[in-house]
Amino acid sequence: MRKFPENFLWGGAVAANQCEGAYKEDGKGLSVQDVLPGGLRGERTKQPTEDNLKLEGIDFYHRYQEDIRLFAEMGFKVFRTSIAWSRIFPKGDEDMPNEMGLKYYDDLFDECLKYGIEPLVTISHYETPLWLAEKYDGWRSRKLIGFFERYVRTIFTRYGNKVKYWLTFNEINSLLHAPFMSGGIMTPADQLTEQDLYQAVHHELVASALAVKIGHELMPDAKIGCMILGITVYPLTPDPEDMIAVMEKDRETMLFADIHARGRYPKYLLNYFEEHGIQIQMEPEDHEILKHTVDFISFSYYSSICETVHKELGTSTGGNLSRGFKNPYLKASDWGWQIDPRGLRYTLNKLYDRYQLPLFIVENGLGAADELVTLESGEKTVLDDYRIQYLREHLIQLREAIHDGVEVMGYTSWGCIDLVSASTAEMKKRYGYIYVDRNDDGTGTLERYRKKSFWWYKEVIESNGACL
Ligand code: BG6
Repeated sequence: MRKFPENFLWGGAVAANQCEGAYKEDGKGLSVQDVLPGGLRGERTKQPTEDNLKLEGIDFYHRYQEDIRLFAEMGFKVFRTSIAWSRIFPKGDEDMPNEMGLKYYDDLFDECLKYGIEPLVTISHYETPLWLAEKYDGWRSRKLIGFFERYVRTIFTRYGNKVKYWLTFNEINSLLHAPFMSGGIMTPADQLTEQDLYQAVHHELVASALAVKIGHELMPDAKIGCMILGITVYPLTPDPEDMIAVMEKDRETMLFADIHARGRYPKYLLNYFEEHGIQIQMEPEDHEILKHTVDFISFSYYSSICETVHKELGTSTGGNLSRGFKNPYLKASDWGWQIDPRGLRYTLNKLYDRYQLPLFIVENGLGAADELVTLESGEKTVLDDYRIQYLREHLIQLREAIHDGVEVMGYTSWGCIDLVSASTAEMKKRYGYIYVDRNDDGTGTLERYRKKSFWWYKEVIESNGACL
């Protein structure tokens, strides 16, 4: 019989900037998200503006106790969230941290532990302090490695006895696609060369490895992973040229996992740099630092794309950052993200075959427009069978992959409670098991309601996946 392992870490995931709100409370500084009211592809504003839903988020900052109680009711074993860097170092380059920010996460992690929920903490989730963007052009500057080092030393020292699972940079490969949101790079994207982008990537990779090194020194029992935006690519046609195109497209993602898992730049990337006249400035110590490899690989998985050299045959598809061609065999969500549960099994096998490291799915889910209805009993809920179906199909494929022999530590579905979306900055695009009464125009009571999927996921966890 196909089974999930004992101690499988079931749970859900959020990011500070998408749910906390309280954007200037208790000494918090601004982050890049506070000036991105339109999300990934929207315009950035000079100052925070009222139309930016993230400024209030779902008010998780004040309501986390109620929310964690609901997660506990579903039986969560793990809860993934991020620390907002600008709560700890409001500008990012100070010598001393902000005690009120540190205290907040102490309380948050204690609240999780009270219910036996392990915190899984992303150190940097698309929320670089704005000051670091404005003064240093974000991760283009090597100085950020030093600021990041101070930040991780601070949080590892403070929370090392509470947090065992850590992720360094959320979807680190996104830096190539969304330089401001992902890397705090102020220079407009169309003025950045590949040289600029890969130099910034190098800084993040060194910072990530440094975090692993420091984390292992300060917290010998901790497990520290990288986090990759899992873009699964298929050839649109059986033309061998398409297969080569897939291999090349895939490398844009895999290079990040390769460096994190193997501790050095792969030959194909060094060749690419040489052929494209890219010269990365590396300090002598960088090679030693990069050798501090991760304990596990985590990734987000929402959809897959096709690649082809026969551009005239393809139609482009949507997705967060994963733009490619439509797969005629797949349906898509209302936001154009292709739904591909089998691709999850394939991706898990591919990553495990390549690295033989434990894997963790830290994001997966369906963004949909939900309708709140009132049942005869008077209870308000959402009948989100479409979400249940999406999640069930993915979990079945995850179980298949485990049966194939892949070592998977856990699964945290994205946006376990409704939050503000990253790419489009909407409330309307909901992922949660818990409905939050907030609308795109900012109205709503912020009340929480259990959706039908809440009860479904509770049963999944209770039965350790046997009811799927
Ligand atoms: C991932 C991000 O890319 O996708 C999350 O790590 C994000 O921050 C998630 O929310 C879903 O994307 P969206 O745009 O639907 O919120």
